[in-house]
Amino acid sequence: MTDRWNPSSWRAKPIQQVPAYPDQSELEAVEKQLAGFPPLVFAGEARKLKRALGKVAQGESFLLQGGDCAESFAEHSADNIRDFFRLFLQMAVVLTFAGASPVVKVGRVAGQFAKPRSAPTEKIGDEELPSYRGDIINGIEFTPDARIPDPRRQLMAYRQSAATLNLLRAFATGGYANLENAHRWMLGFVKDSPQSGRYDELASRITETLDFMRAIGLDPEAHPEMRSTDFYTSHEALLLGYEQALTRVDSTSGDWYATSGHMIWIGDRTRQPDHAHIEYCRGIKNPIGLKCGPSLKPDELIKLIDLLNPDNEAGRLTLIARFGAEKVGEHLPGLVRAVKREGRNVVWSCDPMHGNTVKAGSGYKTRPFDLILSEIGSFFDIHRAEGTHAGGIHLEMTGKNVTECTGGARAISDAELQDRYHTHCDPRLNAEQALEAAFLVAELLKKEKLARGRTVPDAAE
Ligand code: PEP
Ligand code: CO
Repeated sequence: MTDRWNPSSWRAKPIQQVPAYPDQSELEAVEKQLAGFPPLVFAGEARKLKRALGKVAQGESFLLQGGDCAESFAEHSADNIRDFFRLFLQMAVVLTFAGASPVVKVGRVAGQFAKPRSAPTEKIGDEELPSYRGDIINGIEFTPDARIPDPRRQLMAYRQSAATLNLLRAFATGGYANLENAHRWMLGFVKDSPQSGRYDELASRITETLDFMRAIGLDPEAHPEMRSTDFYTSHEALLLGYEQALTRVDSTSGDWYATSGHMIWIGDRTRQPDHAHIEYCRGIKNPIGLKCGPSLKPDELIKLIDLLNPDNEAGRLTLIARFGAEKVGEHLPGLVRAVKREGRNVVWSCDPMHGNTVKAGSGYKTRPFDLILSEIGSFFDIHRAEGTHAGGIHLEMTGKNVTECTGGARAISDAELQDRYHTHCDPRLNAEQALEAAFLVAELLKKEKLARGRTVPDAAE
């Protein structure tokens, strides 16, 4: 691989998952227009996230990353964004308070539109059409017209991302995220759910703590951390023409940044070391994620780390393990050991969704909640055994009360999947299931802390 990088050097490399745009000149015109549009995020924010992730890599905090598998144009509404953000805050507060760990908040949002597919075409009956690749590329309707990649969709995705980000920034800094509101985030949540009772109890403890602080003369309101929160965006950097158009030089450092989102990641299908997606990502300075699936060997992982994080900067690289409940025990320990042996600074995060997808009897693609929890549990067990930090969780989830993953406290059955199956791609946890997962992670985090407390004196001897 040559060392010369520029925002378009990926174009000379082999590439997977490229849409077949019928009109190249139209595509070029759109990319040119995008290149003149304002950045969605700023280099300083990406640097701040990298510093926060550096703390995660050092075992001092925890990464919560989550959102839709695929954002869609049809589901773009203020209510959806609010419900998502509210759920996210609830999960974060559960982790911070019950898990006693600072939480870095990163949404799969405001740019998560392009999807890698396992097959280039989809067949229904006798008809075969190009696969749906996400709203930024083509339409989900099973018609020949909808499935033609249309570059103008990139402009719509950009504008939707800008509007979503605008609302998220307002929520994060305009008072909604104030910890005093912890009870209010429950409004609109499925009532009488087992998780809502548990959460309300925790919110009451927060209120008591704040009252106690005031009683002894500390003013919680004097701390900006109380009134606002840092919330970051992320997506898979799959559609590289779009990413290139939003790649900008930061005037303060002279470095290149992806300005389509704070953090971007490389999918499990596009992580070939000599291919385009790795080439693009190695040159930008944002924090980046790398999905690690069952086909990744320890020596390949080290090679990818060499390419993506040559300076061994903590916070630059998050390894997102997605093996499946049955395979995680076979694959993860070897990777964790190799990374530790080589002294590489990374964040280890667990994506318990993508290795646990099954086809239900009803024909729906689903994910059994038990398997999701089981992979999370194994992920923590493995890190405890290896003496490394279980640094984060990466979930596909929505604030809505959908029925896409089976199980959970309400024991959603195969037959019930059809009730509210709304996802544009993979099945997501609904709000209750996501909160239940957060409570489990909080317990595991506490256990990790206790185990560490026990081992520290030994290590010092
Ligand atoms: C995803 O995160 O939606 C995805 C496609 O993941 P992976 O690359 O791990 O399959
Ligand atoms: Co997905």
